[in-house]
Amino acid sequence: MSTGRCVCKFALLLLFLTALASLLFWLIFLPREVKFHVTEASLTQFDFTTANNTLNFNLTLKINLRNSNQRVGVFYERIDAIAYYNKKKWFCTVGLTPFYQGHKNSSILRPVFQGHQFLLLGARDLSKLDSEKSSGIYSITINLSVQIRVRYGKIKTISYEPRKIKCSLKVPLITNGTTAQEFMLTECNQVNFF
Ligand SMILES: *[C@@H]1O[C@H](CO)[C@@H](O)[C@H](O)[C@H]1NC(C)=O
Ligand SMILES: *[C@@H]1O[C@H](CO)[C@@H](O)[C@H](O)[C@H]1NC(C)=O
Ligand SMILES: *[C@@H]1O[C@H](CO)[C@@H](O)[C@H](O)[C@H]1NC(C)=O
Ligand SMILES: *[C@@H]1O[C@H](CO)[C@@H](O)[C@H](O)[C@H]1NC(C)=O
Ligand SMILES: *[C@@H]1O[C@H](CO)[C@@H](O)[C@H](O)[C@H]1NC(C)=O
Repeated sequence: MSTGRCVCKFALLLLFLTALASLLFWLIFLPREVKFHVTEASLTQFDFTTANNTLNFNLTLKINLRNSNQRVGVFYERIDAIAYYNKKKWFCTVGLTPFYQGHKNSSILRPVFQGHQFLLLGARDLSKLDSEKSSGIYSITINLSVQIRVRYGKIKTISYEPRKIKCSLKVPLITNGTTAQEFMLTECNQVNFF
């Protein structure tokens, strides 16, 4: 037998073993994606002043993260919560404290978006804002930018590229302790961590 064919067979065997190992790894850990839900939202201020193009806001959220895996833990190395009005108009970014989430566990994030921001709104955004002002319910999108490492049993991976998770919210304004309606629990987009 020529050495060429021998090397080729060896490479095939190696390929087969690698495929088998990854399959076994997958079967052992069966990673399931972390689920993100916004469970509470408290919006006490959302005023836009056209004279100086300034948005004044005060929004507190409660976001639930559920890791339902038996053998997979997640290190959240960096989490930024980025707030937009009407999907695209950025107004605030909040950095959250890194943490480790063990097996079969839930964690709660509580980002607070508070302050004022110079914002240029077009005619469409302004008319939307006007109608939302009268309904008392605002379209706010939160994008979570999440950088993680994963723990499979005792093995820790390197940092993954940051993932984006989008939560499209309808948030009722609280004026004088009352709202037009209750905030409804909202599921965020499915994330692909693994
Ligand atoms: C913008 O104008 C409003 C109303 O006049 C005022 O309350 C607010 O402080 C102003 N904001 C800034 C950043 O100048
Ligand atoms: C923002 O709203 C919270 C209630 O959600 C309130 O406790 C806090 O005092 C408000 N902050 C400002 C600066 O108005
Ligand atoms: C789940 O997380 C809580 C804190 O959020 C912690 O006290 C508890 O020990 C964790 N449970 C497991 C099984 O890791
Ligand atoms: C928010 O995240 C989603 C992905 O989940 C992305 O498609 C979208 O462009 C992001 N929004 C902005 C304004 O960056
Ligand atoms: C808020 O409520 C108090 C009493 O509950 C009332 O006197 C006041 O007029 C209300 N303010 C507004 C802006 O509705």
